[in-house]
Amino acid sequence: MVKLCLSLTESTLEEALAIYRENRPFVDLCELRADLLKKDQYPLLPDFPDKVDCPVILTLRRRNEGGNFDGNNTEYTQIVLAALRGAYAFVDVDIRTNSPEIDRYCGGHDIAVIRSYHDYTGIPEGCEQLLRTLPRNTGEIPKLACMINTTRELFQLARIGAYSEHSRQIIVGMGDFGVPSRLLPRQFNTWLSYSTAGRQPAAPGHITPKEMIETYRFRERSKTTALFGIIGNPVLHTRSPALHNPAFRDHGIDGVYIPFPTDDPEYFLCHIPDLGGKGFSITVPHKTVVARMLTGKEDAVREIGACNTVIWEDKKKRWEGYNTDFPGFIAPLKEHMELGGGKVKTAAVIGAGGAARAVVYALVKAGIKPCVVNRTAPRAKDLAERYGLPWGGLDREGLELVKNHSDLIVQTTSAGMSPRPEADPWPEYRFAGREIVYECIYTPVFTRFLQRAKESGCEVITGDRMLRSQGEEQFRLFTGKRLNTGEARLGEGP
Ligand code: ATR
Repeated sequence: MVKLCLSLTESTLEEALAIYRENRPFVDLCELRADLLKKDQYPLLPDFPDKVDCPVILTLRRRNEGGNFDGNNTEYTQIVLAALRGAYAFVDVDIRTNSPEIDRYCGGHDIAVIRSYHDYTGIPEGCEQLLRTLPRNTGEIPKLACMINTTRELFQLARIGAYSEHSRQIIVGMGDFGVPSRLLPRQFNTWLSYSTAGRQPAAPGHITPKEMIETYRFRERSKTTALFGIIGNPVLHTRSPALHNPAFRDHGIDGVYIPFPTDDPEYFLCHIPDLGGKGFSITVPHKTVVARMLTGKEDAVREIGACNTVIWEDKKKRWEGYNTDFPGFIAPLKEHMELGGGKVKTAAVIGAGGAARAVVYALVKAGIKPCVVNRTAPRAKDLAERYGLPWGGLDREGLELVKNHSDLIVQTTSAGMSPRPEADPWPEYRFAGREIVYECIYTPVFTRFLQRAKESGCEVITGDRMLRSQGEEQFRLFTGKRLNTGEARLGEGP
């Protein structure tokens, strides 16, 4: 069974123990990063394993190995040997360290050596051979940790892991692009997956043991777990896993949904079926590239020129592309009207980018002919003329145009999105108070534009509702089932 390990990176043993206690229910073993401790803690190292009730890995990583210990070889050996008088189950020794005394001691005391190799720049040449020859003595566990910089490297690491013949090995992809290797131990053929937890708010890509278990279903997976996820760049801030994974659990579906930072969507989609990939959300900046790439796609993808969902068709051995931004936009609007919101006969779309294309397509499909206004008027013209719609700039003429198209106003630009929430796409526009105002931004949920609309008495539809409903549509495509979105699950982000 794959083990989940908690890496303890605190500066005192007391703090490390506190973090351990908080996370004990989720992990199988822990790693004490002794090189990150203050030096006055070293004499206490032998006592640590007795204070915890799981196997402990001792790691004293040296500076030249990417750690923090700056002593020489003799000091290293002395500290490790002194610590190993305690009940450590494993010791991680980098291949660059030569210490026959430690090897001998471990051999005689039933302590397994993890023989590790770290490359903080990428995957070294001849890595397969390196992994094969890492163990020096029987019973050692080879560990390969490489920085992953690209989608191609991620798949290369998976292949290195899969083709290796060690019965027990540790494979780690470092950096943002390496995150899937931590979440998919079976696909990378690693015996152990590392996680960390600390007092500081988690940085993107940092996955706590609790998230591993509760969000990513670490213990619930089988050999045949269907793999879903989201590809984009950057993408680790996404909240979509918190939406889809609990829904898999609720429906008793053997599936998992994880984020894949991706710089090459074509390569990704070509190779992910080998790792069990069945369906993916596509986000910025890959939506148009994927739309162009696919041969199988629905009309909406062709018309909008953007694809945000792909499903693997096993019979045809190809991906089918969908756009759930378009039904995702319409559903909250319908709901609003069914709940007694004002009737919509006319509409204005602010913006002419990718989001606007999906919105205009959706409105036209729903029988509403909007006008399109945009800061760069020729872009509004390009979009509007595809459907024979009126268009304008964000100027005096635009204001006149919108006056006659203002039952519904849809804000599709990125102005007002964090980290620049002070921006307003059209400060000159004064709300009459009769408009329904639909905002596509969801971070923050209440943009300055939407705030102004509300203060003027307009009915408003927030962007998080569109986000949620496009996620519901995606889940239906992934599984054929309904997603019962708990309000709290989605949180703040996508
Ligand atoms: P997306 O795919 O998210 O729609 P996009 O294709 O880059 O992104 O389009 C961004 C839209 O936001 C455009 O309509 C852009 O206007 P321009 O075509 O003039 O660039 C609009 N936009 C971005 N910043 C804006 C701002 N500060 N004020 C008004 N419109 C803005």
